[in-house]
Amino acid sequence: MKNVFRLTVLILMRELSWRCFGHKIDQRKLLILAAVFTVTGFLFQFFVHAYVADSSSSDSTLQSNDFLKGEIVQQHDTVVDIHSQPKKNINLISTTVTASSPRPRVPLGKQRDIRLLPPTEALVYAKKEIDHAPLVNEDPNLYAPLFTNISVFKRSYELMETILKVYIYRDGARPVFHNPHLKGIYASEGWFMKLMEGNNQFVTKDPERAHLFYLPYSVHQMALALYVPESHNMKPLSIFLRDYVNKIAAKYPFWNRTHGSDHFLVACHDWGPYTVAEHEELAGNTIKALCNADVSERVFIAGRDVSLPETTIRAPRRPRRYLGGNRVSLRPILAFFAGGMHGRVRPTLLKYWGGEKDKDMKIYKRLPLRISKKMTYIQHMKSNNFVLPLSEFLDWSTFSVVVAEKDIPRLKEILMSIPMRKYVTMQNNVKMVQKHFLWNPKPIRYDLFHMILHSIWFNKLNQI
Ligand SMILES: *[C@@H]1O[C@H](CO)[C@@H](O)[C@H](O)[C@H]1NC(C)=O
Ligand SMILES: *[C@@H]1O[C@H](CO)[C@@H](O)[C@H](O)[C@H]1NC(C)=O
Repeated sequence: MKNVFRLTVLILMRELSWRCFGHKIDQRKLLILAAVFTVTGFLFQFFVHAYVADSSSSDSTLQSNDFLKGEIVQQHDTVVDIHSQPKKNINLISTTVTASSPRPRVPLGKQRDIRLLPPTEALVYAKKEIDHAPLVNEDPNLYAPLFTNISVFKRSYELMETILKVYIYRDGARPVFHNPHLKGIYASEGWFMKLMEGNNQFVTKDPERAHLFYLPYSVHQMALALYVPESHNMKPLSIFLRDYVNKIAAKYPFWNRTHGSDHFLVACHDWGPYTVAEHEELAGNTIKALCNADVSERVFIAGRDVSLPETTIRAPRRPRRYLGGNRVSLRPILAFFAGGMHGRVRPTLLKYWGGEKDKDMKIYKRLPLRISKKMTYIQHMKSNNFVLPLSEFLDWSTFSVVVAEKDIPRLKEILMSIPMRKYVTMQNNVKMVQKHFLWNPKPIRYDLFHMILHSIWFNKLNQI
């Protein structure tokens, strides 16, 4: 694996985009790219802006632009419209569907039946259904090119909507429990908690009906409450969580029933993986949605755990406020990165492209103040065996570019060599994929809340 350093340059989700450089550059290529660097040791994200500027880009001082906002298509579907088309054929397994034929529906009676099934049987049923998902080529609410297998995704998602019930432990006191922090780079864990606890569709108060059990704690809050500054000791956090799990295991029968394998947690703080260290079953069995999705640390297990996207939220009241950016022709920067110097890829990147060596490549250690005031950026270190968020279903190659670490010196060349047609396609894909990465104050179908929950659901089914 030594030389298998990968630098993944992602065409950027708009939420990750920024729009603040005003430079006169009469060149052509413009992309918004985000990059995830996979390296032995570290993988990190950075953002790259490339652009397609017209030759007359003399006044490309970038202003906030609502261009992209209008494109956010918010489908508001109700739950699967299963009721609409009762079908004779109860056995859906062999139903093949093409774009023009009606979509298969679980008949109303059948749907009730599924809901009445005991949790374990319902999961077995769902698993079988997904293994024999009817073939679909498209869906009005999903952009098929983004998906590795849209048939499986669609079926699994529908079944989640029909079946899934989550029990949330009421136990646990604030500030560590039930206290979502909605701002900043770790906001994902807070947003998930907030939306899960406020959810009516999936939450059940009856644990006997639950398929999954949620441990509603925040690593971010835990770090604030329990970590002794400068101690470099995370043990108090993991002891605290161990005691909590032992408490619920003693109080309720649910933990012991599966040794925690139908329980899940959602943690975006870097220390998430360490908080589970003191409890063997928690570390070994529980489904973990982690921003720190590094399989080499042996906490995160691909297929069982879920890679949680890191989403920086600046304005919790309006999580989508800083989205958007300029249209392609108004983006003058080819590549952008800013972040602290950790690991090995960043220094290499800096060495070749730092210090404004090239006017198209904006590569910084830290964001210069004059710029940071004006832009949103996210950067994060990830380890080499980083599992990309939502990669259970999304085909990242449709909206990202992968570059080997050894090719960093050629970064500009590589970005510039992307044909316009391909760039435009990928940029469109980025726009289409964006809705799956967004938090909404009130969750909507296929948004990030649902996508994360769905990945947890899907991975739970994988255990069967
Ligand atoms: C998607 O999954 C289904 C069900 O497992 C399978 O029959 C189908 O061939 C897959 N499609 C693609 C494009 O891989
Ligand atoms: C679950 O197992 C633990 C450890 O074996 C035990 O201490 C606890 O009492 C058990 N819980 C229940 C509800 O029986």
